[in-house]
Amino acid sequence: METLILKQTHDLEIAANILRQCGLVACPTETVYGLCGNALDEKVVENIFKAKGRPSDNPLIVHICSLDMLEQLVLEVSDDAKKLMDAFWPGPLTLIFKSKDIIPLKTRGNLKTVAIRFPSNKIIVELIKKSKLPLAAPSANISGKPSPTNIDRVIEDLYGKIDCIIDGGNCTIGLESTVVDVSSENMAILRPGVITTTMLKKIVPQINVPTNAEPIAPGMKYKHYAPFANVVIVKGEQLEKIAIKIQELVIKDKLNKKRVGILIVDELMNYFDNIPVLSLGSINNLENIASNLFEKLRQLDDLQLEQVYTIYLNDNNLGVSIMNRLVKACNNQIIEN
Ligand code: TXA
Ligand code: MG
Repeated sequence: METLILKQTHDLEIAANILRQCGLVACPTETVYGLCGNALDEKVVENIFKAKGRPSDNPLIVHICSLDMLEQLVLEVSDDAKKLMDAFWPGPLTLIFKSKDIIPLKTRGNLKTVAIRFPSNKIIVELIKKSKLPLAAPSANISGKPSPTNIDRVIEDLYGKIDCIIDGGNCTIGLESTVVDVSSENMAILRPGVITTTMLKKIVPQINVPTNAEPIAPGMKYKHYAPFANVVIVKGEQLEKIAIKIQELVIKDKLNKKRVGILIVDELMNYFDNIPVLSLGSINNLENIASNLFEKLRQLDDLQLEQVYTIYLNDNNLGVSIMNRLVKACNNQIIEN
């Protein structure tokens, strides 16, 4: 398949038309790039699953651009849901509602509920407006890989498999939206994101916060964000001690002739030489680390490393959301130091 690449300055009518004609378009959102198709068309949704190689029981998020659109898709909107929408829409928050029948079961992974997000990124909003369609959009990556935050990674994964890719530069947030279930009295956070627990609790204090134990969003049980290298997190109280521990581990790997690299923070860059070292940014700027994380995980793949060491940041606010992704990327391999 020929994939059309559009600049954001191009007329988005072309992309909207592709969507209306049952095609697939990858485009930026404020969180990560999404792979968009008509959420109401079962066949289109099937094609999204195929292009990504995504397990069919992992439901998609439906993107909207108005509250009128929401009304057409969901059965009821609780007062608490309204409060969250007032506070965080448009933006990086996905809400789970009881679904109307108009949304095919395929879109929602055979569930009675549907995930809805009103994004703030102008390009996707324009696409929804111009196509007049609610857009199902998972992250625009091959299933299991880190979500793409720039067009190069979308091209790497999906060029030739979809109709169109829109270049909107780098995504500002870099982590996927926070997912909150508002479909019952038992409101709960299903996936952490840049809208943190603290921010949510200010609006709805009774919201349930997940323990680390069980994946709740259906998609969270699958292998995710995994680079080819074996990634291990080193956790400890003091940054310097972490660096020294990693130095020890690296020496052992080098003796075993492993291709080893490091994904670290700016503050520890000077501890390592003669080895590929990537920085996530300063430990004092978690927003910046969040926006760099997925691209850095992909750069590890470019370096064709076998073994990578990285560090545990913290469990405060945005730290929770970053570590949620990083711990998955390393398949839970954490060394306490
Ligand atoms: O920021 C984002 O959310 C990005 C951009 C493109 O909008 N999209 C995204 O989609 O991350 P995806 O498909 O990669 O992740 C959707 C998550 C999955 O964990 C899925 O299981 C969960 O939302 N989800 C979708 N529908 C659900 C439902 N009805 N109930 C519970 N979880 C649901
Ligand atoms: Mg995804």
